[in-house]
Formats: sequence, C-alpha cells, structure tokens
Amino acid sequence: MVEQDFIPKYNYKLTIESGKFTWQSPSNIALVKYWGKKEHQIPKNPSISFTLNTCKTTTTLKFEKKEVPTELFSFDVFLDGKKQDDFKPKIETFFKQIESYLPFLKEYHFVIETSNSFPHSSGIASSASGMSALALCLMSIEKKLNPDITQEYFNKKASFLSRLGSGSACRSIEGDLIFWGIHKEIGGSSNLFGIKYPYQVHNNFKNYQDTILLVDKGEKQVSSTVGHNLMHNHPFAQQRFEQANNNISKLIEVFKTGNLKSFIEIVESEALTLHAMMMTSLPYFMLMKPNTLKIINAIWSFRNQTGLHICFTLDAGANVHVLYPENEIKQVLKFIQNELVAHCQNGHYICDRIGFGAKNLQLNTEY
Ligand code: PMV
Repeated sequence: MVEQDFIPKYNYKLTIESGKFTWQSPSNIALVKYWGKKEHQIPKNPSISFTLNTCKTTTTLKFEKKEVPTELFSFDVFLDGKKQDDFKPKIETFFKQIESYLPFLKEYHFVIETSNSFPHSSGIASSASGMSALALCLMSIEKKLNPDITQEYFNKKASFLSRLGSGSACRSIEGDLIFWGIHKEIGGSSNLFGIKYPYQVHNNFKNYQDTILLVDKGEKQVSSTVGHNLMHNHPFAQQRFEQANNNISKLIEVFKTGNLKSFIEIVESEALTLHAMMMTSLPYFMLMKPNTLKIINAIWSFRNQTGLHICFTLDAGANVHVLYPENEIKQVLKFIQNELVAHCQNGHYICDRIGFGAKNLQLNTEY
C-alpha cells in the first residue's frame, strides 16, 4: 500500500452531526528499536515490539459539526478532567499531518478527554498509547461516515495515522507482537504502518512479562524527536541500521525455536545500542541514571546465579523494563521486590505483560 491508499477516494456516503467514541490503547515496548527517521516519520530501520496490557491511555473524542465551517482546527483537550492547553500544539501538528487523510477534520469541533493508567509523571511516555487512542477515535468517525471500511483497512489506517503522530504509536493498535518497517524476510511489512508479526511464535513468548521499574519519573532532558534527528550524520548510523535488520532476521529464528538465550542477547544488545547511539551523537547525551546501571548489573548477576531467563530493555529514558517468561514470575518478582525496588524512585514499579491491542470501549452514542 502507498500513502494515497489512505486518502478517501470519494465523498463520504453519510453525514453525522455529533457523537462520541472511546478507545483504550496500550503502550508498547520495542525489542528491536526504532531510532532514526526520514521525513514523515518513515523509519530508517524496521522495529518490533511487544504490545503492553496494563499501561494504556483511554480517550473519549466528542465531536459536533461546526455551525459555520472554518479553516481552523477547533478542539479542546482535557487530561484527567482538567483542561490541558499545553497539549494543544502537539495535537494541532498531528491534525495538520493527517488532514489530507481525514478530510472531515475541519468540519467539527472536538473535545478530547484523555487519561492514562500510569501516573503522568512516571517517566513512561504516553505518546504511543495517546496518539493511537486518538487516531482510533478519529477512525471510528471515518467508519461512521463510510461503513464499508473493512476491519483490516480500519486497523492499517489507524496505525498509519498514529505513526504520523508518534512513530512508535503505529505499533500500539494490535498485539501481541507488532512489526513496523520494511524487512526483506517479513512479507507484507511496510514503513507506513505496523503489522501483526506474521510468522510462528513459540509458546515461551506467550504471556511474556514486563515489570517496569520507575527509576526516574522526571521529564526527559532530550526528547525522542531530537534523538531521532541526531541519527542524521551520526558516525555509526549505517552500521546501526544494518544491525537492526540483522537482529530482526535473528529474532525470526528465535521466535520459531523459543531460544530464550538468544532472545536475551538480542534484546539487551538492542537496548544498550540505543543508548550507545545517544552517547555517541553530537551533541552527545545520556538518559541512563546510576540506578539504571545498578539494576542492569543486579539482573546480570541474578541471571548468572539462577539460570533464569530474566533480561532488561530500555526505551529513551532511565526506566528499566524487566522482561521474563510467565513460568518464572514467582522467582523474578521476589528478586525484584528484594533487590531492585530499592533502586526505583519512591519504590515504584508497574507489573505489565504482553497485550493484545486497543479496545473500543463504547460504540457510538449520539449526544
Ligand atoms: O515514537 P517515538 O518518536 O517517541 O520514538 C520512540 C523510540 C524508542 O522508544 C526509543 C524506540 C522504539 O522503537 O519504540
């Protein structure tokens, strides 16, 4: 598919005056990381992620036809019931990016009510879950205007639109393992949207656990937009993009055979490479904190001592995602509580696991 396939070819069949839709969309954690992009959020390398289950955003989008059409986007945003004008510029930019794909955007006034299952100041990025929840609500409007849209097109376009809001958001529509970006061994893969990983996945990865250790709940010093841009002219960029492609090839085999040892090696290497890219760009920067390193070292010694299959990954921040198979929950949680929680800010952590994608919480109700 190409971009043009997401532009409605005909005028919508129906009209709708007002209504509301609610979607709940999860966050995701990349195993092979997306870091570096071209124009229009086209990734420089493919990535793959586990969709999460517990960390999610719930968004209700209310819409009402403007009495007089205007050339401006019209919307208000509320987070946890409080007006949040500082979210408006990001949403305005998002609307501009997606306007040609959703021609009805300027016909309505929108009220966007959003809340996250994780604390706002947890250092967990809400852009993937937030942008995908909003994109899904907008797709529900499109579906109402054109009921012929298939489920497949709905999901692809929701992912396509989410990507334009925040790259990794395109991996939050479905679960449990989502692939984004073109890779020669993955049929149907696209730079434009995420797809469900199409090949065999061993039972070892079913219900995989992710306990998120909140090491630093502050705002990131460097945004991911700035970080992606620093991959232009980065001295190791080409090797990095090649490595990501090779790691995907290796993961295809790992998912088939259930080889947890290789899984751990790929996932931890990806996390450290992501941060190595940050430390070797110009300007260089570092998002890991002393407690991030303490946790990583503790995980390594625990793994050596016990032979359990615990490993870590990181996104663009100091928090640590502790990944492990379901049948090791008891021992790993005990270890986390006894040894790792001490390194978390205020002892906070979130028990999450692999999830199956976004949920439509309410079918359309006119108001
Ligand atoms: O979606 P963005 O632009 O916030 O970038 C996310 C990048 C990482 O989280 C670091 C990696 C990834 O693939 O999710």
